[in-house]
Amino acid sequence: MSTISVPPQQLLERILTLEIVRVTERAAVSAARLRGRGDEKAADQAAVDAMRRELNKLPIEGTVVIGEGERDEAPMLFIGETVGIKTGPQVDIAVDPLEGTTLCAKNMPGAIATMAMAEGGTLLNAPDVYMEKIAVGPGYPAGVIDLDAPPEDNIRKLAKAKGVAPEAITALVLDRPRHAAIIAAVRATGAAVRLITDGDVAGVIHTADPDNTGVDIYIGTGGAPEGVLAASALRCIGGQMQCRLILDTEEKRERAAKMGVADPRKIYGIEDMVKGDCLFAATGVTDGSLLRGVKFRKDVIETETVVMRSVTGTVRMIRAEHRQLEKFHLD
Ligand code: FBP
Repeated sequence: MSTISVPPQQLLERILTLEIVRVTERAAVSAARLRGRGDEKAADQAAVDAMRRELNKLPIEGTVVIGEGERDEAPMLFIGETVGIKTGPQVDIAVDPLEGTTLCAKNMPGAIATMAMAEGGTLLNAPDVYMEKIAVGPGYPAGVIDLDAPPEDNIRKLAKAKGVAPEAITALVLDRPRHAAIIAAVRATGAAVRLITDGDVAGVIHTADPDNTGVDIYIGTGGAPEGVLAASALRCIGGQMQCRLILDTEEKRERAAKMGVADPRKIYGIEDMVKGDCLFAATGVTDGSLLRGVKFRKDVIETETVVMRSVTGTVRMIRAEHRQLEKFHLD
């Protein structure tokens, strides 16, 4: 009989893969109860409370490095908050308990509950500011995207690397007035633009599977916390991403400097944002093209979660049926 030995650190990390699913599931269920009620804040708060409760049950010494905001403005899951039962590995945590608060409040597709976990000191400590982002999925030569190149050049280079005409490329862009020039430039190449109203963590993840999502590239400016979460996912499944914090005031530069950002113009690749191995999980709150939303049946609550692990590149889709509903009524 042969025994398979897994180093203790890796064993724990394997166990934590399932544990973080519980965390995003509970946050998603709590937010989903408030779908379509027009109250972003209440839905977000419910997700935050649930996520924090679950994180505090994990056998980790966790520090929130990407959270609900900086200490003064967020009562819970603020940057610097420690979570877990305080025995176990030191880990960095990035959370977005409800990514797409407006999507949830309006019951529109694509709201998710998401988090990433990485070895302590390996996730970028980013302030809650905007970030320029460009991302593609795996399988392209290094350097196929360049944040500082015009969108046209990125589209043409990507089309060439894919072996198709620019007309066969689709770029995903957040529908914001600030993106008018990007949208026009992409369209000028003949490529298509898919606009989303919110949710650029899922937006970036779409690029990892263009055959199924129809999305080849993500371009635009969104939240920096969402950028680090998306980078964690791409660290697991492959791809390329370049990002730069938008530190356009002295106050923002100071906040960033306090978090260790020495060069305000630095372009971050995936490995700069996620320096070591990580886990990433997301559970659907509303139905979306990535994940089904929470379903409330008579005796069962159903959830769908994607969980990824960078050590192995494994991606698991976990459809769960929760029957101990009294647990969820606490949320
Ligand atoms: P929230 O869940 O915090 O509302 O974020 C949704 C989102 O669309 C993110 O996915 C994106 O990064 C950011 O907002 C874009 O910011 P803005 O709405 O200010 O353009």
